[in-house]
Amino acid sequence: MSKLLENKKGIIFGALDERSIAWKVAEKAHEHGASFLLTNAPIALRMGKINELAEKCGTEVVPADATSMEDLGKLVDAATEKYGKLDFVLHSIGMSPNVRKDKAYTELNHDWYHKTLDISAMSFHKVLQTLYSKDAMNEWGSILGLSYIAAQEAYPFYSDMADAKAMLESIARSFGYHYGVKNKVRVNTVSQSPTVTSAGSGISGFDKFFDFADQMSPLGNADAESCADYCLTLFSDLSRYVTMQNLYHDGGYSTTGISSKVMEKWAK
Ligand SMILES: NC(=O)c1ccc[n+]([C@@H]2O[C@H](COP(=O)([O-])OP(=O)(O)OC[C@H]3O[C@@H](n4cnc5c(N)ncnc54)[C@H](O)[C@@H]3O)[C@@H](O)[C@H]2O)c1
Repeated sequence: MSKLLENKKGIIFGALDERSIAWKVAEKAHEHGASFLLTNAPIALRMGKINELAEKCGTEVVPADATSMEDLGKLVDAATEKYGKLDFVLHSIGMSPNVRKDKAYTELNHDWYHKTLDISAMSFHKVLQTLYSKDAMNEWGSILGLSYIAAQEAYPFYSDMADAKAMLESIARSFGYHYGVKNKVRVNTVSQSPTVTSAGSGISGFDKFFDFADQMSPLGNADAESCADYCLTLFSDLSRYVTMQNLYHDGGYSTTGISSKVMEKWAK
């Protein structure tokens, strides 16, 4: 098998358990010859199984709350001490207390709203700013965040996460400009189909909209493993000139108006 990420070094945020998109990215990046640190919030390290993944990938876990500049500074220092400059970073982080507690968008708790934006969007800026200020990335390096189509269209059940995703995608464009000019570093977001993970299935009505999206998409929903494949292509040298983009990885959902499967169901 040709190794797409031979000699590439990186950091992977957000592997909680084997369903996590970041977990699949780590497994595949390892298969494709990459070396990387794994990281997650200290509380997730206690709850999740990330140490199993680290063992499998021959690496270690460095705890970091992605909202803390201090933690991020230590994490990036640990990665560059171990590997030198980095080639890829995956930000696979999302959490909304409002979604967790089933708060309707019209009744948000605004303290929690701050938390949603800080964890799910501003943390992307914090990661980027830490890497940028420490000059931690190699030229043509690639940094990815994970998004969802509710950034562009109304999905009522997605509550304040929709706003967080819109901000995340905007940060990819805004920071991508500066990082491109400074170091030829690429910054993109991948907008993924609904996926059965801890974050995904925590959204109310997830099963129904998972099925709906599956029936709407000409190719069906993209699963976490395929998402990881796509992320690897974006970390590789084969996508050197792709930056400041939000890239749909959704089986065609985002550009399908109506599918015959959904029409048939609706007619019943
Ligand atoms: N599952 C879906 O349907 C879906 C669809 C599109 C996009 N996404 C996005 O994919 C990304 C990964 O989510 P997932 O579906 O793999 O679920 P997941 O629950 O496995 O991953 C979310 C991760 O965020 C981490 N996290 C939360 N707060 C953190 C903090 N303060 N610091 C560091 N890490 C923190 C969690 O510990 C967890 O590992 C998220 O950005 C999510 O919004 C998911």
